[in-house]
Amino acid sequence: VHAVGARAARIASLHQATALRVGIDTPVSADALAAAVKGSTRRLEVVIEVDCGAHRSGVQPEQAGALAAHAAAAGLAPVGVYTYPGHGARPDARRPAADDQLQALTTAVESLRDVGVEAELVSAGSTPTVAFSARGPITEIRPGEYIFADMDNVRLDACAEDDVALFVAGTVVSDTMPEHVIVDVGTKALGREGNPDKGYGYALGLGETCLHKLNEYHGFLSVASDQRPKVGTVIPIVPNHCCPLVNNFAELVVTDSEGRGLDRWAVAARGT
Ligand SMILES: Cc1ncc(COP(=O)(O)O)c(C=O)c1O
Repeated sequence: VHAVGARAARIASLHQATALRVGIDTPVSADALAAAVKGSTRRLEVVIEVDCGAHRSGVQPEQAGALAAHAAAAGLAPVGVYTYPGHGARPDARRPAADDQLQALTTAVESLRDVGVEAELVSAGSTPTVAFSARGPITEIRPGEYIFADMDNVRLDACAEDDVALFVAGTVVSDTMPEHVIVDVGTKALGREGNPDKGYGYALGLGETCLHKLNEYHGFLSVASDQRPKVGTVIPIVPNHCCPLVNNFAELVVTDSEGRGLDRWAVAARGT
């Protein structure tokens, strides 16, 4: 996190209210965090992000100790390391990415030790790699999509179709065109993740059928004429990626396997 402006004030107040750990990967962010919590009675705990091959963010594992030492000198408390093996979200890449993750975290732990910091937190991601993550010095795993699963993880063999627990209820609202029916689910609900090959959302119960095109609030569904759903039919649509779907709604409706409503959950952490 780079804590400036409103974000700095928010971090300072969270730090007062609860046990907070913040991820950093640059000295300038360490300095900003230290400034944000200046005057606090407790040191803010920070976790050093390392890159394990996804090449998104994070320091190189051998550099983790130098950043931890910088953070400590700035008045923060470095407590460990974390990484995100985003390069594991491809076919045949799950296990190799988990191996990269193990190696990077092991090196990072040694790098912290070299500057006198014993890592109490060694944190790994992600849903595609979770099956291979609990080993070596790793003390925590952070799978996110795992909670609901989605079609991307089914295609990666990271979960079974039966594990998916998040759907958007699409209602057929138009059948005037011979080549498709329209459901009231578009990019506002599903986001834009997909492509013409895998489609933009999987229509449960209609064979291997996917929405093949989305407008803002229209989903295009081609189905064989003997399976063509009537206007008013409700079809559970499984997202390719569950995260944007959750973020697009204020509330989730919890049901049993027959679709009977059990509860409603407010989505608490929408936006950034
Ligand atoms: C830093 C970090 N940790 C954990 C996660 C959760 O990963 P996933 O949703 O792939 O399980 C993410 C997701 O983007 C992430 O960016």
